[in-house]
Amino acid sequence: MPTEHQISPVRPASADVAAMERAAPPGPHRVPDRLDVARSRYDAAGLRSLVAPGWVHSAVYTDPRIFELELERIFHKGWVYIGHESEIAKSGEFRRRQMGRQPVIFVRGQDGEVRVFLNRCRHRGAIVCEVDEGRDSYFRCWYHGWTYSNSGELVSVSGPDGYGPSFDARENGLTPVPRVASYRGFVFATLDDAVPPLEHYLGGAAKVIDILVDSAPRGELLVRSGSNRTIYKGNWKQVGMDGYHPLFVHASVLATWERHSDSGHSLGATHSANPFNFDGVSETRDFGNGHTMLDFLKHRLNHSGKFRSILENTPGGADYIEALYAEHEESWADVLLAMAGDPHVGIFPNLQLINNQIRIVNPISVDETEVVMFPVLFANVSPEINALRLRQHESFYGPAGSGSTDDAEIFERVQKGLGASIDPWINISRGMNRERVEADGTIVGHISDEVPQRGQLKQWLTMMVGRPEFEEG
Ligand code: FES
Ligand SMILES: [Fe+2]
Repeated sequence: MPTEHQISPVRPASADVAAMERAAPPGPHRVPDRLDVARSRYDAAGLRSLVAPGWVHSAVYTDPRIFELELERIFHKGWVYIGHESEIAKSGEFRRRQMGRQPVIFVRGQDGEVRVFLNRCRHRGAIVCEVDEGRDSYFRCWYHGWTYSNSGELVSVSGPDGYGPSFDARENGLTPVPRVASYRGFVFATLDDAVPPLEHYLGGAAKVIDILVDSAPRGELLVRSGSNRTIYKGNWKQVGMDGYHPLFVHASVLATWERHSDSGHSLGATHSANPFNFDGVSETRDFGNGHTMLDFLKHRLNHSGKFRSILENTPGGADYIEALYAEHEESWADVLLAMAGDPHVGIFPNLQLINNQIRIVNPISVDETEVVMFPVLFANVSPEINALRLRQHESFYGPAGSGSTDDAEIFERVQKGLGASIDPWINISRGMNRERVEADGTIVGHISDEVPQRGQLKQWLTMMVGRPEFEEG
């Protein structure tokens, strides 16, 4: 169903899907003045005009002013994924992270509590943590030596006599991010105190995160195996949740998996019989709030035998399978095993759980994005099972992997193509003629359908215009 936020001046809100499919794209000759990018103020009406049912204006991906608004209204307002608690399992462990342009420190204090601070000295603003990760009792600012504990207190001021008696160190600790919340070890933060609670925001997507967590015995994930990073010259909204492209961008990899699906290659096993085929049963899901999924469950339930036999032939594999069935209902354990712990979900705006990895998307500029990929291992399993997980991650996503590099290349080609401005609308209508809505509101389509792209854009628009204070005219 079209929503208020899909309304465009070139398409009536009440247009039904069939009418939309018959209609021509909103061409440049029909673009109203406010879509003249050079003159646009991007007020609420102008922003709404960039998204029509099944269409999006390329300025959404190319205009630096849109990018600045995204940082302000999405990354500096809403829930943003920070990191996994297991990354900082020991007191004093820290990771440097970004919330849009805000540098933050994700740290476990001496008291065992997980906190997120702005990475900014309270004296004259230098960052106090200049390395990506580590473990320490203190953050010492290099500029003039102010020193903070790993719980954020200002514990030492160099030359304290220079400050009068009214100076209170307790008021000059590191600034905590206003709200931090965790879902099963996944830590999110927001700079805006007024947003709804994290569990409301995650909604139906939370049960998909469970696929990864429950696949680890006792739900204990280990995100402590480093990360690999890709920076590509393309917009941040291009990354992930596209089930249409693998047949083309990853054609050679899919062919390899197919040839080796019986060889013990675990990715080949989980992708056997090609889950992306046009006549297959894999699906796409839009849970609302921009959270979307490539759902391989129906496909994988039909092909779970190969992955199961790989596990059974791996030392510790039989114990692992037994633990899953001991901990969970049989039907859920069947799902966990068939899915191989792969939720393939995107949590808007910056978290994706794909195969064996947690992925953070960091927007750098309108046409530059960093993707950081963290392989996820399990506690309470044999080293061989974790080695299998790590090799699987590397084979597609690692620096010498067979897949991620092709994705980065195609994102760059998309960004170049979007620079052509004569006919600026791009088509995201695939599957609008056949999507269905489940009882809980989840929109479901075929794996190749653009249900995720529409779901993400819907949330994008909601956050860009959805609050009264953003209404400019
Ligand atoms: S800016 Fe940190 S001590 Fe001066
Ligand atoms: Fe891809």
